[in-house]
Amino acid sequence: MKKIPCKCFAPASVANVAVGYDVLGFALEELGDEIIIREGKEKGLKIKTIRNRGKLSYDPLKNVAGFAALKMMEHLDIVDMPIEIDLNKNMPIGTGMGSSAASAVAGAFAVNAFLDWPCKMHEVLKCATMGEQLADGSWHADNVAPSLYGGFVLIRDNETLDVIGLPTIEGLRAVVIYPHVKVLTKDSRNILSNKVDLQSHIKQSGNLAAFVAAMYKSDIELLGRALEDIIIEPQRAALIPHFYQMKEAALSAGALGFSISGAGPSMFALCANSVIADNIEDAAKKLYKEEGKEVTVYNSKINLEGAKKY
Ligand code: HSE
Repeated sequence: MKKIPCKCFAPASVANVAVGYDVLGFALEELGDEIIIREGKEKGLKIKTIRNRGKLSYDPLKNVAGFAALKMMEHLDIVDMPIEIDLNKNMPIGTGMGSSAASAVAGAFAVNAFLDWPCKMHEVLKCATMGEQLADGSWHADNVAPSLYGGFVLIRDNETLDVIGLPTIEGLRAVVIYPHVKVLTKDSRNILSNKVDLQSHIKQSGNLAAFVAAMYKSDIELLGRALEDIIIEPQRAALIPHFYQMKEAALSAGALGFSISGAGPSMFALCANSVIADNIEDAAKKLYKEEGKEVTVYNSKINLEGAKKY
């Protein structure tokens, strides 16, 4: 088997996108995790260094990137092959921007790149989703799929990982606002009711279908009308400081839509252009400064590339 030492990157992402809880996500530019992969000296997979380690484990069975890489190795039946990885954890954990998914995708993707692409991307996706599952205990690909493929991705079925890449309206930008509070995905999932009433289901499925139609028709006004979450957002908003104030500020500044990014605490606004995105960024910084709270704002194009090898 050919071995190519390399550096791989997997981007941050926004899951749910207001109307597609667990079934919709898109990738962000610049922010993301890196894996450097090379031949090792000992049998099996070793994590050699973790930059910005925090509480992350060096044990591949307890580390999302390592676990996803290990799953790829198992899939290829090469668990004893000496492989070393360095993880550059470039984004904070527990933000709702797909941090664990970026690590998982980087891990699985790097093994495939190192061995000169023996696997199809769908196999990489499966191993990355296993890594993501290690992080929050549940099986959903709405962060890993966009991080791997780039752009907007719809998950028709999480179980079989039937994923569909959607077109993106040109010029679209995302502003992601991260208030510095910790929200664990597990907790944020546990507070959700298991029941959805029929009228809410009708409204939300109309919006999800309209979202997809808007992307295909490149219809920015329809996209704006579709971006309304009446099921998940009301249940999670209380976890996020000043959520509704921020939403009002973003919509007043011209956002097409505004909601929670993944499980939170980050929020996102989708915008038709960079002028509106810049205004929302300013509004977010102003609001949280006035409230005496720390915030980080990412103002990004939609990342159409997904994971990549340098
Ligand atoms: N769809 C997931 C959620 C994304 O909202 O819980 C976070 O992993």
